[in-house]
Amino acid sequence: MDARHTAAAIARVRAREGARPANERLFDDPYAALFDDTSLDVQQLFDLIPFFEEHIRLRTRFFDDAVRDAVRGGVEQVVLVGAGFDARALRMPELRENVRVVEVDHEDQIALKRQRFAEASIALPDTLSFASADLMTPGALAEGLASAGLRDPGRVLWVCEGLLGYLSLPAVTELATTTAALSMRGSTLVANHGVNSWKPEVIAATFARSGWDVTAAPSYDELFRKWLGPEVPPGGQEFALLVAVSPPG
Ligand SMILES: C[S@@+](CC[C@H](N)C(=O)[O-])C[C@H]1O[C@@H](n2cnc3c(N)ncnc32)[C@H](O)[C@@H]1O
Repeated sequence: MDARHTAAAIARVRAREGARPANERLFDDPYAALFDDTSLDVQQLFDLIPFFEEHIRLRTRFFDDAVRDAVRGGVEQVVLVGAGFDARALRMPELRENVRVVEVDHEDQIALKRQRFAEASIALPDTLSFASADLMTPGALAEGLASAGLRDPGRVLWVCEGLLGYLSLPAVTELATTTAALSMRGSTLVANHGVNSWKPEVIAATFARSGWDVTAAPSYDELFRKWLGPEVPPGGQEFALLVAVSPPG
């Protein structure tokens, strides 16, 4: 399954959320349909990976809640690393005022996203800026962030959603050190990954070595019970979340 299929499948899951009854919806993403490539048979992916759809729904809600908590706690910058077709900067009212949002991704991915919004005559908020970077290239993340104005440490929420599985260990290490260096006390980093891509203990150790304080993250089974009900289907243990906070100092 290629990355295009994965991106289309994620967009399909997010677009379908809006068709659920309001009391069952975990989030609302009116922009997801812009990125759902209906020519692709993403059902294959849903059939191939148990819990795929649930995991996208639950992680989207989990990261949305992390954004809400951070903004409530006074964070003024949210950086979406590997933002892809994430539309939080548009769809979350919490991010429309007094919060700076930076999206980091490959240059062509950013261009495609901007093109889809432009074709749909959707104006991007002034609070949103973009940083193009190939995170596999040493130094590119820091350079991209600096070009978007992020040069000095601040209180930041870093969201690395659906990203870590695409990176090598040196790239994950650089992600951890670069984000730690730009994070003042009160910053948080949230991420997710498949346990077949990365062992949770490897990811935790990599971020801890870089100065992040790795804290307990919920399991997907816990999130399922919280948001979707007591009958948890198999497959949730294949996916993991990371929550790290910047240490005192
Ligand atoms: C599966 S998508 C997830 C997108 C989004 N965060 C979401 O959850 O909908 C992974 C994103 O990471 C980006 N990505 C993967 N490898 C990257 C790299 N080396 N440098 C920059 N971005 C990368 C891809 O371009 C893509 O937009």
